[in-house]
Amino acid sequence: MTEKEFIPSPYTKSVSSGKTTYKSPSNIALVKYWGKKKNQIPANPSISFTLSECATVTTLSYTKLDTPSAIFSFDVSLDGKKEEGFKPKIKTFFERVYQYLPFLKDYHFEIETSNSFPHSSGIASSASGMSALALCLMEIERNLNPMMTAEFFNQKASFLARLGSGSAARSIKGSLVQWGEHEDIDASSDLYGVEYPHKVHPVFQNYCDTILLVDKGQKQVSSTVGHDLMHGHPFAEQRFNQAHENLLKLQSIFETGDIDEFIGIVESEALTLHAMMMTSRPYFILMKPNTLEIINKIWAFRETSKTHVCFTLDAGANVHVLYPENEKVEVEQFIKDELAQFCQNGQFINDHVGKGAQKIN
Ligand code: DP6
Repeated sequence: MTEKEFIPSPYTKSVSSGKTTYKSPSNIALVKYWGKKKNQIPANPSISFTLSECATVTTLSYTKLDTPSAIFSFDVSLDGKKEEGFKPKIKTFFERVYQYLPFLKDYHFEIETSNSFPHSSGIASSASGMSALALCLMEIERNLNPMMTAEFFNQKASFLARLGSGSAARSIKGSLVQWGEHEDIDASSDLYGVEYPHKVHPVFQNYCDTILLVDKGQKQVSSTVGHDLMHGHPFAEQRFNQAHENLLKLQSIFETGDIDEFIGIVESEALTLHAMMMTSRPYFILMKPNTLEIINKIWAFRETSKTHVCFTLDAGANVHVLYPENEKVEVEQFIKDELAQFCQNGQFINDHVGKGAQKIN
């Protein structure tokens, strides 16, 4: 697929008003997307587990205007309250997707959104939020063009979500999603996420992720600024190559279910992401003392318990604790006893691999 194929032919139907709701999950990257080119094209491919509990529900109501508007006409609310602060990001999103959704200036939109997790908890609400909005917009497009296939619907939803926030491309379908071209991964694309096409051992199909809320404050650096720091970064090329290599290694790990090797790659990816931030100009340390306390506790517990608990990090201080489902009882007890004390207000969220976004009737 090329970008051009997402530009629609004239619509066959007309719709005056309607309402659609989607629930879309967050995701946690195993191989990280860090660095991008123009038009939200990733500098390297990435792969993530789709989550289940951490999700955004978005309802989009649309009413056709008498004459098309010169600007995008929309209001946004979060948990029932108008949220002016979200408007600039959505306006930018609408501008980026307008050529692919030419009906955008024909309607007034009411966007009502709510998250299952606390806003500004450091959990990527942009992935779930942008994918939910992209799906709602695709639902309108499907009404205007009922011949659309399900495959195209999902592909274009991911393509649009990506233009809102890169990682959102991985929040549409599937439990394991790859986004970004890789020569050994069939059908992989820089334009949208694809369900991982190779064999995945059952142990990775219901993996658990407990998100430890170490620091719920405003992020020190937005991801967008962070990606930018990879331009002219002294280790950028090596890092991008490493992501390709790690994805190749994961292919046999996913197939055989080799969790020890999986842990090595996932933890290294997390620390490399942070190392990139520490070695950029300007430089940042996004981990907090409690992030390191948790990492050390996880390593010590893994050693003594012989479980396969490991961690990954996003571009912040929170820790995602990953473990196989058959070790859930033991690991969740460990989290309560030893890790919760390092979380703000003792807060953490138990989540697990999910199946992707859903339409809510
Ligand atoms: C560290 O998708 O939030 O979570 O495309 O600028 O919106 P934008 O960035 P975003 O970056 C996510 C970065 C990451 C790694 C990942 O999810 O792959």
